[in-house]
Amino acid sequence: MATERTFVIFKPDAVQRRLVGELYSRFERKGLKTVGLKMLQVTKELAQKHYEEHLERPFYPLLEEFITSGPVVAMVLEGPEAIGVVRAMLGATNGREAPLGTIRGDYGVSRQMNLVHGSDGPEAAAREIAIYFSDAELCDYETTLGGWVCADDEK
Ligand code: RTP
Ligand code: MG
Repeated sequence: MATERTFVIFKPDAVQRRLVGELYSRFERKGLKTVGLKMLQVTKELAQKHYEEHLERPFYPLLEEFITSGPVVAMVLEGPEAIGVVRAMLGATNGREAPLGTIRGDYGVSRQMNLVHGSDGPEAAAREIAIYFSDAELCDYETTLGGWVCADDEK
């Protein structure tokens, strides 16, 4: 088991639907630690870097239009196996297929407007964190309650 950092975005639909606080509290309550957090407008250039693996896909133009359509909230979350934990919390890409209890299953009915992005593996997490955050924007700190989130051998 290992402590990991993962990259998360609350997409424009989450901001427009004023769900940021509610969704963010799910990650906090889960026990994940925020090490970076900011609001920004994704540009076309940034979208192309972030979703580089999808550039040639037929849905890419719509994805770019969507992710640049309004401000987003970007964050880096840390915790034991945080990458997989966040992906499990999101559920399947399509909100109509994502199980109830997941974010996409509970809050959405769309494949495109699925509220939250989470890195899908360690390489993607490192790449995406470096695209969106400078080292100076990431905070290394201990939380007083950190010892109550998991045992030492799970870190
Ligand atoms: P994400 O990268 O945003 O966390 O989502 P994901 O891994 O579940 O899905 P992915 O396959 O990486 O797709 C990236 C985003 O593109 C939009 N999409 N549209 N119209 C379509 O067929 C289609 N497929 C995907 C979604 O917003 C998806 O989250
Ligand atoms: Mg993806």
